[in-house]
Amino acid sequence: MLIGNKLYYLDTVDSTNAYAKVLLEKKVSEGTVVLADKQERGRGRFNKQWYSPEGGIWMSVILYPTDPALMSIVAAVAVCEALHLNGILPGIKWPNDILLNGKKIAGILVEIIDESVIVGIGLNLNIRTFPQELQDIASSVFIETKKHLEKKMLYDYLCKQLDDCYKMLQNKQSSELLTKWRHYTVILGQMVTIEMGDVTIQGKVLDISNDGALVLMKTDGKIERIPGGVCHLLKDR
Ligand code: BTN
Repeated sequence: MLIGNKLYYLDTVDSTNAYAKVLLEKKVSEGTVVLADKQERGRGRFNKQWYSPEGGIWMSVILYPTDPALMSIVAAVAVCEALHLNGILPGIKWPNDILLNGKKIAGILVEIIDESVIVGIGLNLNIRTFPQELQDIASSVFIETKKHLEKKMLYDYLCKQLDDCYKMLQNKQSSELLTKWRHYTVILGQMVTIEMGDVTIQGKVLDISNDGALVLMKTDGKIERIPGGVCHLLKDR
């Protein structure tokens, strides 16, 4: 299996993505994983802090994909498949949030560096409590299901699913991958707002395109492809 063929398992790290970036400079093999029990400076998208105490799965994978734009899709589908195989049914909120009962239980941070990609995955697996300011939006598999899934076991599932999904991408089977994404997503047919810097667009989600962009029908009826941004389900507001 490519994913996890080499593993750097750390007790504590600043950020697994930052650690992977240093490894990248040393030209480590594709599929190398950095996994940590705890991160002291875990980062999310837009450089936001990512709460990373013990109990979660904090990992980064080094890959050299043919199509880096679809790596968020690869990782999101893999996280959902790994959980689904363990009796949990999460949903994907484009582009990189994994939800359970409407709360975020996992996030994906894809960093493209030249020809390489670092895929950071944070999965709130067995976290028991969150700081007050996160309680309305974040949760864990344990809090939502009262099930304690063993971390090593879920990590193994995750690597296997990432391996399968990454193979689909590399073997030009991304339509299969997008079909899985459509199965898991919670935003198809929903009204959303997408924040892209200073611009906010509102519309109904029609589909995801082959390059991972969101296909939106705006309130004026025009169809727009949105390459990236922050998505809010309108009923969340
Ligand atoms: C997001 O939803 O904003 C993305 C969160 C990504 C968090 C993971 S945890 C492992 C890896 N290391 C980091 O510092 N961030 C990612």
